[in-house]
Amino acid sequence: MRCLLIASLLAGLSAAHLNPNGPVKLRKSLGFGPTNPNAAYYSNPYQITTNGFLPHSQDADPMDVARFFVEDTLRGQLSESVSYKIRPDSYTDPTTGITHVYVRQTVNGLEVSDANMNINIKDGMVLSYGNSFFRGPAPSIMGNPAVEAVRHPHREYCEELTEELFKHHSQFRQSYGDQVPMDNGRAAEYQQFAAPLVHLHESHCQHHELPYEMAETKPAADPADLRPALLQFMVAATPKSDVVNDILGNYDEHLNKMSVTGSHHFAPTDDPVHIFVDNVPDTVNTVKAHLAYVQVPTEDGRSTELQLVWKFEVEMQDNWYEASVSAIAPHRIISVVDWASDAPIPTPDKKAAEYNVFPWGVNDPSEGDRKIMKENFDSLASPVGWHSLPYDNDPSWNGAKPSDSFYRNTTTTWGNNVFAQENWEGQNAYITNIRPNAGKDMSFDYKYDPKETDKGDAKDEAYGYINATVSQLFYTSNLVHDLYYRYGFTEVAGNFQQYNFGRGGRDGDAVIANAQDGSGYNNANFMTPPDGQNGRMRMYLWNTAIPYRDGDLEAGIVIHELSHGLSTRLTGGPLNSGCLGWGESGGMGEGWGDFLATTIRSTSNYSDYAMGSWAANRPNGIRNYPYSLNETVNPSTYQTLDKPGYWGVHAIGEVWAQILWIVSNRLIEAHGFSDDLFPPLPLENGTVPEGDFYRPATGKKPLIPKHGNTLSVQLVLNGMKLQPCQPSFFDARDAIILADEQLTGGENFCTLWKAFSERGLGQDAAVVGRTPWGGGVRTNGYAVPTNCKSE
Ligand SMILES: *[C@@H]1O[C@H](CO)[C@@H](O)[C@H](O)[C@H]1NC(C)=O
Ligand SMILES: *[C@@H]1O[C@H](CO)[C@@H](O)[C@H](O)[C@H]1NC(C)=O
Ligand SMILES: *[C@@H]1O[C@H](CO)[C@@H](O)[C@H](O)[C@H]1NC(C)=O
Ligand SMILES: *[C@@H]1O[C@H](CO)[C@@H](O)[C@H](O)[C@H]1NC(C)=O
Ligand SMILES: *[C@@H]1O[C@H](CO)[C@@H](O)[C@H](O)[C@H]1NC(C)=O
Repeated sequence: MRCLLIASLLAGLSAAHLNPNGPVKLRKSLGFGPTNPNAAYYSNPYQITTNGFLPHSQDADPMDVARFFVEDTLRGQLSESVSYKIRPDSYTDPTTGITHVYVRQTVNGLEVSDANMNINIKDGMVLSYGNSFFRGPAPSIMGNPAVEAVRHPHREYCEELTEELFKHHSQFRQSYGDQVPMDNGRAAEYQQFAAPLVHLHESHCQHHELPYEMAETKPAADPADLRPALLQFMVAATPKSDVVNDILGNYDEHLNKMSVTGSHHFAPTDDPVHIFVDNVPDTVNTVKAHLAYVQVPTEDGRSTELQLVWKFEVEMQDNWYEASVSAIAPHRIISVVDWASDAPIPTPDKKAAEYNVFPWGVNDPSEGDRKIMKENFDSLASPVGWHSLPYDNDPSWNGAKPSDSFYRNTTTTWGNNVFAQENWEGQNAYITNIRPNAGKDMSFDYKYDPKETDKGDAKDEAYGYINATVSQLFYTSNLVHDLYYRYGFTEVAGNFQQYNFGRGGRDGDAVIANAQDGSGYNNANFMTPPDGQNGRMRMYLWNTAIPYRDGDLEAGIVIHELSHGLSTRLTGGPLNSGCLGWGESGGMGEGWGDFLATTIRSTSNYSDYAMGSWAANRPNGIRNYPYSLNETVNPSTYQTLDKPGYWGVHAIGEVWAQILWIVSNRLIEAHGFSDDLFPPLPLENGTVPEGDFYRPATGKKPLIPKHGNTLSVQLVLNGMKLQPCQPSFFDARDAIILADEQLTGGENFCTLWKAFSERGLGQDAAVVGRTPWGGGVRTNGYAVPTNCKSE
């Protein structure tokens, strides 16, 4: 009973919505963490009130403004042991002139990993900021932490978890009747999930006893030894029951096998000292660890207290976790973010290259034919085109580097932004996987003509056109790179490139794009580690029809996935991948992808659009509703989030995407429609001409997109940069309104408020009792600011 209950929370509903005849997919994804009752986002310009050393000046160095601001805001809260540091991923965005400064709190020299300020500064003014700093005194580093652990069992948190689990279990019952488990296959699947998840639940919520014999034999944790915490996290994280059993059965052996390198600095240091752990079961790479504090809610839920944790970056076959595990009570997992995001789960003078592909704008094979398209890279976004990268930054190059050239030019789908290849084995290797080689004439022209076959041969039939599919994935992904670049997802903002042309940010992170990935069906996912580490996208075949449908050919799915990389890197800064992990934030992480995919395919003739309908072979696609201005077709409102079935990030995301769809169409009504989302290319002297794309420049940058659809993409991206880590719907809405204030002087203030309020996200919208899983009770609000009423 209890097993089933927990399985239905994290896997059941999503997996069960899939094609019931399809292969059972065993990917699981954990995502939860405490909510911080003190976190807040302030979107009004801040007046520094003290007589500081820094008189307000338009020309003030934004970093000075930030430092001054932090000290002003945190007056009385800073001390020898409570301090802050400005993170190195702070940057000035040339497209808006806004400097985004990311500040991390430190206590006793350790980072408080969820205590952030994001401060948005322009012309010497703080425009807005988010603040989730810990407000209490620094805990004594000399105290006995084990005592603390027993004293604070997080009762409320556990009650919430349990209540939530029951709620979802009854939903599951409603959906599937009393036949739980439904059949042997699914029963086995639930068992697979259940064992580790029961452990997770118990470990989190068992107050006085440690779970399982393994924990009982290891009650006294040495906080300087990270191995027990890591091993116990793996028990919860692995989807494989044999690995769980192996760890539980051979606990000490595993512990001893794990090799730890790096220094154990328990004492204060300036930067987190990373420790590296090898031989960790079910990982595919060395685990990175460092000691930090995280905040957990106090029992009354009104403030937070600090827990000493090990932060792990754990790369597994299908997940890439950032987890915090209590250093004192290693069975207690405080928070987990999966850097991997699943897409929808339904039921069911070198030569420019050319590609035979479904052109940009053709969403999928049902919408148009393939054509030969040029490598029309954007010279600002991809200065050396899509098929070149420095020898030094090429992980596949191990020969000598020619003395006369810096760039290597490839004849394959391998370049500075994207490494595209097949991944039939579904493993992590990618460098030597098959990719098309077009040779000297650079013509990626391959056959795509799938035949109806027996089901047994359907996969081979798809394998037969792999080079067409990889070419398509490469083409779409590069265009998305270039498009987002032009709206401000640049190197400093943490975009994905092997080489950053000295324009800031961290090198070494092209997107690894795997076509026909063998690790699943009927889905897709994207893993976003922090800037400087490759993002990884996996596209699957869909067995929803014969011949199989190939997700690589449905641009909307590819765009949705790549947008996870965008929103994760832009929210909370390039080096913080933990800002869209769960609840409303995680949901919006899905929603932005749907919104951008829909916007990219839309034309001047308005139409409703469904997500993934070709791949899923369902006219209404994989969401509950198509995106539509018609309330009968898509009735989602803010309050819809309270409904059963809306606890998962995809359903939450659907509501957010629907709201953005309305916002964007109201801007289109006001400003018209641009057939091309790509801004004009720069002139030879580097100036970007206005064309029919931007409004006539008033001499002062930044350029303002002229039309409603381009403006809405710009505001959405700018909003991502302005909003705080772990934003709520309200924060994201306010950030978009602030982005308009900054870009246009607020000319769309009323248009935006009215559009948001159409689906209940007006000024008086409210939520009480949000939980880490996005629960709570919401009220739609339809109010707009007073000065908008008469319009
Ligand atoms: C690659 O192409 C660039 C021109 O885009 C050229 O400067 C460079 O020398 C080429 N590299 C090699 C090794 O030929
Ligand atoms: C795809 O292209 C590669 C490299 O040119 C080639 O080795 C392979 O046979 C091709 N695969 C198919 C199925 O045509
Ligand atoms: C919009 O509709 C009109 C009239 O049906 C048609 O002529 C035009 O080609 C359409 N435009 C686009 C971009 O689909
Ligand atoms: C909205 O959709 C419903 C159902 O498809 C339809 O009956 C109705 O006419 C539509 N309303 C408008 C204004 O188009
Ligand atoms: C760049 O060239 C354009 C067109 O020749 C000209 O209008 C513009 O002033 C130039 N910009 C700069 C910064 O020189």
